[in-house]
Amino acid sequence: MVAQTSAVRNKSNRIDFYDHDKHSYEEFWVGREYEHESEVIALNRLLKNRHYKLAMDYGGGYGRISPVILEHTDKLILVDPSKKQLDIGRRFLQDYKNVDFVKVTEKDSVPAKDNSLDLLVMVRVSHHLPDPRLTFQAIAKALKPGGEAIIEIANEAHFVNRLRYMKNLKTVPKQPVPIGSVANGIVDDTPFFNHHPKTIEAMFNANGLNVEKKLSVSNLRHRALKAHLSMDRMLALEKYFQGKLSILDFGPSIFFLLKKEE
Ligand SMILES: C[S@@+](CC[C@H](N)C(=O)[O-])C[C@H]1O[C@@H](n2cnc3c(N)ncnc32)[C@H](O)[C@@H]1O
Repeated sequence: MVAQTSAVRNKSNRIDFYDHDKHSYEEFWVGREYEHESEVIALNRLLKNRHYKLAMDYGGGYGRISPVILEHTDKLILVDPSKKQLDIGRRFLQDYKNVDFVKVTEKDSVPAKDNSLDLLVMVRVSHHLPDPRLTFQAIAKALKPGGEAIIEIANEAHFVNRLRYMKNLKTVPKQPVPIGSVANGIVDDTPFFNHHPKTIEAMFNANGLNVEKKLSVSNLRHRALKAHLSMDRMLALEKYFQGKLSILDFGPSIFFLLKKEE
């Protein structure tokens, strides 16, 4: 009985889901060039004319977006709970000599001294955070006063979803919404959640992280559009709309540029 309780506790505290044999995060990106390029456009836009001494790619996986961050920092720490992702990352980023690889073992913890980071980037991680409050608290602690963060959230209130809720005479829940434990080939107990941007913004405020800019990303993620428009056209439209649609929280992915209060 005791053993069972502790097994359950251990299971729920796990964060190394991406070590699972059956999951290949690199393969997940095959056929998702539009989403990848859309995220690169958003990051470049938010990082434009900025340079940092020390940046962290938090939950950075194998470093898919690290090369973009590396154009804007002297040093990068790639942090992930998955040994497998970090091992792939060492090969993927082998040409860069200014990257440290750090395995994080505890939920909601940022492996950095308080007030030490100039920039923290967290993309496609909120999906795995049933309650991101403590993670945001840890991020705020690790940033220097005036330091910046780029945090992406999986948006439950995106336009198509809002229509779905309306059709069922419902409103988009303000609380995190579980979207299934089996997704993208991960077959274990990986949590998947979407979030409401307004709830997330309130959490940022509560931790002294002020929203400087916001972008709506992957706005054209739809099978029919992908089938009919060329990639160049899709990306040109994406670039045009990211800023304009952010006010409506339109896309499935919202990127926030945040600044920690001085
Ligand atoms: C979808 S991948 C995103 C990787 C990378 N940021 C990117 O955009 O390609 C999610 C990553 O978050 C990591 N992760 C999962 N749960 C986490 C947690 N609680 N804290 C930090 N990282 C976590 C996973 O190991 C995985 O590498």
